[in-house]
Amino acid sequence: MSNSGDKAFYLTTPIYYVNDAPHIGHAYTTVAGDVLTRWHRQRGEKVWFLTGTDEHGQKVMRTADLNKVSPQDWVDRLVETAWKPNWKSLNIANDDFIRTTEPRHTERVQRFLQGLKDSGHIYAGKYEGPYCVGCEEFKLPGDLIEANGEKLCPIHSKPIELVNENNWFFKLSAFVEPLLKHYKDNPDACQPESARNEVVSFLEGGVSDLSISRSTFDWGIPVPWDTDQVVYVWFDALLNYATAVGLGDDPKSEGGIKFAQTWPADVHLVGKDILRFHAVIWPAMLMAAGLAVPKKVFAHGWLLVGGEKMSKSKLTGIAPSDITDHFGIDAFRYYFLRAIPFGTDGSFSWEDMSARYTSELANDFGNLASRLTAMVEKYCAGIIPSAAKDPGLESALQATVNRADPAMCALDFQGGINAIMEFCKKVNGYVTEKEPWKLAKDPANQKELEEVLYNTAESLRALAVLLNPVMPTTCEILWESLGAHATMGPISKQTISDVARWGQLPPGSSVIKSAVLFPRLDVSE
Ligand code: ME8
Ligand code: MG
Repeated sequence: MSNSGDKAFYLTTPIYYVNDAPHIGHAYTTVAGDVLTRWHRQRGEKVWFLTGTDEHGQKVMRTADLNKVSPQDWVDRLVETAWKPNWKSLNIANDDFIRTTEPRHTERVQRFLQGLKDSGHIYAGKYEGPYCVGCEEFKLPGDLIEANGEKLCPIHSKPIELVNENNWFFKLSAFVEPLLKHYKDNPDACQPESARNEVVSFLEGGVSDLSISRSTFDWGIPVPWDTDQVVYVWFDALLNYATAVGLGDDPKSEGGIKFAQTWPADVHLVGKDILRFHAVIWPAMLMAAGLAVPKKVFAHGWLLVGGEKMSKSKLTGIAPSDITDHFGIDAFRYYFLRAIPFGTDGSFSWEDMSARYTSELANDFGNLASRLTAMVEKYCAGIIPSAAKDPGLESALQATVNRADPAMCALDFQGGINAIMEFCKKVNGYVTEKEPWKLAKDPANQKELEEVLYNTAESLRALAVLLNPVMPTTCEILWESLGAHATMGPISKQTISDVARWGQLPPGSSVIKSAVLFPRLDVSE
């Protein structure tokens, strides 16, 4: 999955509804996207990482109404006070942030829609059927569950509403065959496999045309040729991935050049709740416009609370700060990707997170770093000793990179992180076996002692680089404390392809005794 030439590795997250502040479900997707894009940057690739907010539609409009402010005031306030600061505090390094109320988006959506109309993909019709405002989705009768004689949305457990409107329709049904062929020819285009199977069987069951406008409210982008209607919020929202990079602009303009450098997207990262929109409607829209479809849609699982999807509308959302206040930002970034196979549902457990924090981060990783710097200070006057090599560690490191790199690139975060943390355990085992504190008791062992310390420091050099995409603040501190910054340059410039080359940490660098990387948890809380 590497890109050549001028094309960037382009990754997107969903643009989230701003009916409320973010919870850890949104953070899960965005952190995963941040880790993957940081990994690709660490591979030396050009990267473009987009996130943003979905601001139109009835769900957002009704929340604003309830709060007695205009929808625009509501979204402006929430984006600036909740969403953007949240991503900043989680150390998300997105290159752009798109809001669907921005003119750069609304203008390109209108132009795109007009293009589809002109080329005969859009017609006037009448929609009658169930709608879930929570999902902002036209439902099929088979999608619903029944409780106490009421039809409910299975995701939101809320009653659906009946819509009966004259709308504009997109000829989605015309794309069933091309989409089936696309997923047959490109198994990677929809992942994991369970998601692809779901999409293929949905397509095989037949698909109706899609109502793409609404006439009963006005919080949306006006349909350019019929301004009594606004564009259906999903039709507007999906386009963000392309409008943000210059969809439809003159190829010689700034937008057109950006589009050529990014499109098609390499990965659309989504939760499985919104798989069909991304794997059916979105590529059909692109096909209709004669544009390339995304290379991969990856649908991850849900974070569950009490066995159900954590959600804003059910008020089961846990704020990221509830966790980061206690465990820190990097442990948060690490935990979910390490603990839950990406693609599978998982429950958040305070106990499991505490246990992993202590054993994997504080003991295996943090202690290794603090022991090493303390011993280099004590036994080598704080100077990295002359280079040495341990063949066992050297080959284990190469094997680690050989496992971790393809795993991370395939979005198997758990597999990638496991490989790296196993190497960390191996280095701990090496230190335990060599017992440098015993070697230090006899000056005759000085050379062997220095070899052990060099090998440990060099292993930590590699661990800092490999874990940097996951825990950038911690790894930067470790990098500094190894004295690596002064001699090897910034950690961000180290590459995955070169990380296993043994002996890079220059002897003679001064170590800096660092703050504890993962402080003991305060159990009194
Ligand atoms: O669907 N577990 O926005 P949204 C894991 N605006 N991930 C979760 C989650 C959970 N419990 N809850 C939310 C929308 N997410 C549309 C998207 S894109 C063109 C438009 C994450 O605010 C997950 O990525 O409901 C999910 O797909 C997304 O947030 C839905 O966010
Ligand atoms: Mg949702």
